[in-house]
Amino acid sequence: MILNTELEYKGNLFPSKIIFYKKHVNVLYFKSENGVVLQLTIERDSVLRFRYSTTGMFDKDFSYAITIYASKGYNHLEITEDDDKYIITTSKLVCHISKIDMRKTIFDVKDNTLICEDELGFHWEESYEIGGDIVKMSLKSQQGENYYGLGDKPVENNLKGKRFQNWVTDSYAYGRGTDPIYKTIPFYTAIHHEKSYGVFFDNTFRSYFDFCNERRNITSFWAQGGEMNYYFIYGPEMTEVVSNYTDLTGRPQHIPPLWALGFHQCKWSYYPESKVKEITSKFRELQIPCDAIYLDIDYMEGFRCFTWSEEYFPDPKKMVKELADDGFKTIVIIDPGIKIDNDYSVFKEGLEKDYFCKRADGPYMKGKVWPGECYFPDFTNPEVREWWSELFKELIEDIGVAGVWNDMNEPAVMDVPGKSFPDDVRHDYDGNPCSHRKAHNIYGMQMARATYHGLKKFSYPKRPFVITRAAYSGTQRYTSTWTGDNVATWDHLSIANQQAQRMSMSGFSFAGSDIGGFAEQPNGELFARWIQLGVFHPFCRVHSSGDHGDQEPWVFGKTVTDIVRKFIELRYQLLPYLYTTFWRYADEGIPILKSLVLFDQEDSNTHYRNDEFIFGEKILVCPIIEPNSKGRRMYIPRGRWYNFWDNSIMIGGEEVWVDADIDSMPIFVKEGAIIPKYPIQQYVGEKIIEQLELDVYYKEGKESSEVYEDAGDGYDYKKGRYSLRNFNQVGKPNSLTIQQFKSGKFITSYNSFKINIHGLPFKIDKIEVDNEAIDISKINGVVTFEVTKEFRELYITGK
Ligand code: GLC
Repeated sequence: MILNTELEYKGNLFPSKIIFYKKHVNVLYFKSENGVVLQLTIERDSVLRFRYSTTGMFDKDFSYAITIYASKGYNHLEITEDDDKYIITTSKLVCHISKIDMRKTIFDVKDNTLICEDELGFHWEESYEIGGDIVKMSLKSQQGENYYGLGDKPVENNLKGKRFQNWVTDSYAYGRGTDPIYKTIPFYTAIHHEKSYGVFFDNTFRSYFDFCNERRNITSFWAQGGEMNYYFIYGPEMTEVVSNYTDLTGRPQHIPPLWALGFHQCKWSYYPESKVKEITSKFRELQIPCDAIYLDIDYMEGFRCFTWSEEYFPDPKKMVKELADDGFKTIVIIDPGIKIDNDYSVFKEGLEKDYFCKRADGPYMKGKVWPGECYFPDFTNPEVREWWSELFKELIEDIGVAGVWNDMNEPAVMDVPGKSFPDDVRHDYDGNPCSHRKAHNIYGMQMARATYHGLKKFSYPKRPFVITRAAYSGTQRYTSTWTGDNVATWDHLSIANQQAQRMSMSGFSFAGSDIGGFAEQPNGELFARWIQLGVFHPFCRVHSSGDHGDQEPWVFGKTVTDIVRKFIELRYQLLPYLYTTFWRYADEGIPILKSLVLFDQEDSNTHYRNDEFIFGEKILVCPIIEPNSKGRRMYIPRGRWYNFWDNSIMIGGEEVWVDADIDSMPIFVKEGAIIPKYPIQQYVGEKIIEQLELDVYYKEGKESSEVYEDAGDGYDYKKGRYSLRNFNQVGKPNSLTIQQFKSGKFITSYNSFKINIHGLPFKIDKIEVDNEAIDISKINGVVTFEVTKEFRELYITGK
């Protein structure tokens, strides 16, 4: 019997009374009378790791998710005991371990708020059928507790009342609530009493999470094998929880090349070469900015990875160069299935070197994918990953391809039950041999990792760009991702919004959806509304399956083309803002998209909001997700916000109607923000940036903003060649002061800022730049003037 609920099977076993305790530096061991061992590691003041063994012996400690760079150490650690419990105190939390039954309870050290409490706590079931244990954990849900995260689940933000399964699955045309789909990110955040914590269950077997679904006040999680091994991560800010989670599982190893944050156009498939050029030329002709063009499986010879169809792409190097001259980066798809063909070098080499996955009894794992019958590299073997990464030499170094798209890496297998490998397939698992039950959820991640290393090597000195469909926690270190094969419906537009927010909240910000929908064809209105949302997603790509009609920005008529252009242009203007936000994400793990609960967790109105989100730190967006809309109702978070389109002020803390006809959408800027803007470019690098625009949104009071820039590619920024500008704005009824603090060694191409001040409440008498008065001109309530980029202090006074 495979256990599908946490309690349905009555053979649950529990730890009994603790009879032994030992401390070794930051690791505590507790042993129960019936042989259960709890290994509790104090990773940091706010991060505790719980690991249980039912036999007294632990598996080798190995994880694909946890990075070697995870911070370690704490400011304070004290362990005491009384008659019925051990008490572990750090500078952030207090954890009790009950001597009777090993159950834990965690409190905030500052005010003693109960944060997390075991219900049954750790328990397990011995599974004769599959071997090993089914390991389970149950926690009491606190009053008003809500739950978020878990990767790409296509449901509302708040997970309370729902149950989920983690098993990466190829899910063509999935729908709202389909579970599981492509990713396994067994990490959630919870909030109650204005405090947030998170749980990362680092177990790659098929796992389940139940948020008060099976039992009203109980949250539980369990896996069909492996160890109960989870991290408790305390905030109390939800942003800190996510940031601590990415400290454990990693952040992007570098920021993407700036062009990768531009607009991408994709389709299954653009071929032959003349078609590709027709598309790229049309972008330039219609002046719709675009940086990347994709080649789907038809560029290959019979879908053999690392080959080119001689018929459709006779001279790929020349084509890629010509596209590059026109500002287009070429991105090609690479799937894991290697066609069984003795005349195909990749297949022959893989076979000779014994790199393909095998069934338990010896034969190769054979499965059908696009090329027909295939074998599949075992990406969990480091030697295979090394070999795979070398395969990119020609594609990247010689032909000049700029990015690689890893697809079908769940791994997807056609026409078989379960759409993937059977459980018995063997994997190396980096020297810890195991079956597919354990390796399935990380197969795609290891493929993306190997691809990333190949690109990193051969793109040098440029930064690599990889996109993957399947992922496990930690994949954000290597790649970007998209939400798979969605559908061109209004509901899917809303699902895409949820998924991108959820991915950000789950530590994986570099995500987006197939804009317009992959299956079926959108009408012009849906396409325009989807573009409006998509330009606010960190990864911004139109993609569709060819058999449902075209999906380029110009196929829906002039009105739609103009709207699409307007919003893509806006994205290009906001590139320095997005790049700054990305740098913050890569540096500190701060999510790029912030669901309202993450932005203002103390306002309980945000706990059930779905549609609105904060893009970066300062811009509030809310997509229109219904047809024939002239606007919508939305919640404005607390604070004062400027309507982006007309500068009118909105006071937050309530739901309001916002006008947004088809050529508009609700966008607001937080008061006090300074938003950097580049001129519109058809692609990154088209223009030398001669001036940086700074949109200053007046606030009475203080607010700070930052602008990060570097060469936009390469690794010099890691050696200090970046430019970071911090702006402090102080507004008073009759004055506005902006101070600039600059750090880093990068010299930007421009010498001046164009400053646009919005919402100034007084008439200007004087503007002083570093104590020198300058001339001013006033246009439509927006004050615009130029200043040197070196200014230290800007002082505006008036009445
Ligand atoms: C899968 C991918 C899709 C791609 C297609 C053909 O369905 O999800 O994006 O276009 O395969 O390669």
